[in-house]
Amino acid sequence: MYRTHTCGDLNEKFVGQEVTLCGWVHRRRDHGGVIFVDLRDRYGLTQIISDPVNHKNAHESLNEVRSEYVLQLKGLVRQRPKGQENTRMSTGKIELVVTELNILNESKTPPFEIDQEKEVGEETRLKYRYLDLRRDRLKDNIILRSKVIKFIRDFMCEQKFIEVETPILIKGTPEGSREYLVPSRLYPGTFYVLPQSPQQLKQLLMVAGFDRYFQIARCFRDEDQRGDRQPEFTQLDVEMSFIQEADIMDVNEGLLIKLCKEFIPHKKIKKLPFPRMTYHEAMNNYGSDKPDLRFDLQFADVTEIVKNSGFEVFKKAVAAGGVVKALRVPDGSKFTRKDIDELTEVAKIYRAKGLAYITMEKEGPKAPILKFLSQDEVESLLKACGAKTGDIIFFTADKFETACTALGYVRLEIAKKMNLLDDDLFAFCWIQDFPMFEYNEETKGLAAVHHPFTAPKNVDDIKDHPEKALARAYDIALNGSEIAGGSIRIHDGKAQKRVFDILGISDEDAERRFGHMLEAFKYGAPPHGGIAWGLDRLVMIFADEPNIREVIAFPKDSKAKDLMLGAPSQMPKEQLDELHIELKE
Ligand code: AMO
Ligand code: AMP
Repeated sequence: MYRTHTCGDLNEKFVGQEVTLCGWVHRRRDHGGVIFVDLRDRYGLTQIISDPVNHKNAHESLNEVRSEYVLQLKGLVRQRPKGQENTRMSTGKIELVVTELNILNESKTPPFEIDQEKEVGEETRLKYRYLDLRRDRLKDNIILRSKVIKFIRDFMCEQKFIEVETPILIKGTPEGSREYLVPSRLYPGTFYVLPQSPQQLKQLLMVAGFDRYFQIARCFRDEDQRGDRQPEFTQLDVEMSFIQEADIMDVNEGLLIKLCKEFIPHKKIKKLPFPRMTYHEAMNNYGSDKPDLRFDLQFADVTEIVKNSGFEVFKKAVAAGGVVKALRVPDGSKFTRKDIDELTEVAKIYRAKGLAYITMEKEGPKAPILKFLSQDEVESLLKACGAKTGDIIFFTADKFETACTALGYVRLEIAKKMNLLDDDLFAFCWIQDFPMFEYNEETKGLAAVHHPFTAPKNVDDIKDHPEKALARAYDIALNGSEIAGGSIRIHDGKAQKRVFDILGISDEDAERRFGHMLEAFKYGAPPHGGIAWGLDRLVMIFADEPNIREVIAFPKDSKAKDLMLGAPSQMPKEQLDELHIELKE
């Protein structure tokens, strides 16, 4: 037997016992001839002390060990001397006097210190991921992740969901991103596609009659990386039959609340049940389809008030069919010139042409734009915004989407500047009634906002004016992050075909790409719908981490590379030949 206990097990109850531990040398100190080692495994740390008089051999061996050596050691548990206890450690009241030591393996000096949570360059951390995973931060995140997944599984199974594994080598799923391809050896010139999500398969499981499905599903999307995106990520994927929006929402909201109680009991859920708003409300009031509702700051619409004003910027934007949105910031008049410039830059990144403002001084409103506005217009503006002394009001004038989105990012930046983002508050929100389609600049046609299997709220809409049609889709936003999204599906072949038509997918093309779905719908598809959570994103928020990489054991870097494995990599010619692949220069 390698060990009798782990490095997290021992406490006062074990005093006087002989035990054997295994672990890594976390820290080693020499105190005037006596050697101290903190021995580490995933369960904790135990202080080891040498006895140069009675156990000379063990002492001498301990003298040789260095950081991260792997040891097996036998010893006697004893109480630490008075005043030397460490109350922060479960093993902090005892130490182990080593009697026998066996060096199981040596270690090179690690490229960074394992015993300290110091900043280490991202590249080094990723290259030596197995060492980074030894440190508490990542270790705790990975353990948290495992517990969250176990909790979800237990909950779903209790609720009569069945976990089904769907294949990874499939045919394309239109989820909106580029796909990863896998060449087939047996069928020259053909490819498997890695799933962007199990969307079609879970729908086919509904046709099969499974009724309540879930999966902790790996998804693959070849898209540009961001802090909350990875090319490979994990969803909690769910699909249900004979249900409506409310049924899906109940199950998911219930599970999220339980998860919060279990894993982050110290954090407060801002509002229960989760508030619901339409996509239009979210954009109109917060400038985002995943609004951060931890703080209030809502927009006012002042289009009507300024549409005929002498301020050309506003007037022109409205004349071109746009809007003027206002954001009142209590106490914002203390913003400096520099703050305002920075906020203007943020607005411009999101394509606003500028950021107008009015400050509410003791003497009254003040701003360069006031000279272009009439007394009446100013008064109505201030009233519409509820302006008070000490406030600042920001304005964007543009097309609805642009004016709202840009002001939405300004709103977030203001929250950062004013410390309005409470890390201990969880503000969940359901966003509903998304548009079915959006205009795609590249294809100059309509594209599905969610995916083409989403049902419209009103079937006639997709005939008469698809650009206005709303979808039976819903997202869950949490503190400004989209953590889940789903929809009620089309379960009728004719309606599905109509949607393909609108998307410019010809009958031939639809047959080729989605023939299996259209065919399946002919054999009694039940009404159904579902949702998928970004599980990594949720765990990231639970763990208070700023980046999704911190909750994934072996993530890709920001350029989609695995720096530890060195993937992607070139392949030997023979292997390419076998796959009928020839590389272009
Ligand atoms: P959707 O594409 O909205 O829906 O994805 C669901 C959730 O997955 C998370 N997510 C990601 N997380 C990390 N990295 C990524 N690259 C990434 N992309 C998405 C988000 C998102 O809310 N099949 C549908 C679901 C359905 O309709 O049931 C789907 O995949 O948190
Ligand atoms: P200008 O007339 O370009 O000098 O702009 C005068 C003020 O209006 C500046 O504070 C600009 O940032 C602001 N501004 C310009 N364009 C817009 C716009 N589309 N929406 C809101 N403010 C704008």
